[in-house]
Amino acid sequence: MTADANKAHPHDPFLVEGCADGAEALAVLDGVARTYRSGAVEVEALKPLDLCVRRGDFLAVMGPSGSGKSTLLHVLGCLDRPTAGRYLLDGHDVARLSDRELAAVRNAVIGFVFQRFHLLADESARRNVELPLLYAGVARGERRQRASEALDSVGLSARMTHRPNQRSGGEQQRVALARALVKRPRLLLADEPTGNLDSKAGERVLQLIEDQSRAGTTVLMITHDPEVAARAEQTLLMRDGGLSRA
Ligand SMILES: Nc1ncnc2c1ncn2[C@@H]1O[C@H](COP(=O)(O)OP(=O)(O)O)[C@@H](O)[C@H]1O
Ligand SMILES: [Mg+2]
Repeated sequence: MTADANKAHPHDPFLVEGCADGAEALAVLDGVARTYRSGAVEVEALKPLDLCVRRGDFLAVMGPSGSGKSTLLHVLGCLDRPTAGRYLLDGHDVARLSDRELAAVRNAVIGFVFQRFHLLADESARRNVELPLLYAGVARGERRQRASEALDSVGLSARMTHRPNQRSGGEQQRVALARALVKRPRLLLADEPTGNLDSKAGERVLQLIEDQSRAGTTVLMITHDPEVAARAEQTLLMRDGGLSRA
């Protein structure tokens, strides 16, 4: 990105004002854009946008299909890099990190929950929840202990040995939530976490996400459902790759 591109980006004071006090900010997007190119076709999935996510925030993101919500979540979660602009996550300038360093920051800071759970179907719930700790080099005894605690915290028992695909959708999403929480992430990112669940199972998952927020975890949750969004402290709207307040 050039200095000119940065200058040309008009800051949205409403979105950045929360970051005037830098100490409060967990994630700051400054003119961040993400363009996808396939052949001659270019898709501006995210237009240059500003966003300040402060520690402890509970944000919902709504918007039509294709408006860029998942792209925003992937950029915030360091699964994807911006093609322009600056992203500061927990004090790290993401553009300056190597892929390896970025993965390390992601693993230390972020927990993800997806609409389709993304569990390993052939592994037990406990094994799924233990895996992030295995990758982090945590010893077996502590892995077991922390996986049990995480499963307890979502109302599931580590002793249950069912494979994920033998569980209901609500249970699978709670396993996925336990997996996201087992490393005590500072930022929980959820992409339509209740989108595949009936209302009762969705409500349970939503309550668990609210519990996390109350316990101090910063949460950003994508949803199509206005009633789900209403549970957050603030709703942001995405439209054609741009972000505004609801
Ligand atoms: N990997 C990709 N390659 C090319 N285009 C993509 C890719 N991911 C998303 N897009 C495009 O970017 C836009 C935003 O997509 P997405 O962030 O998935 O929107 P939403 O989650 O709001 O439905 C869409 O036009 C989509 O087709
Ligand atoms: Mg999406």
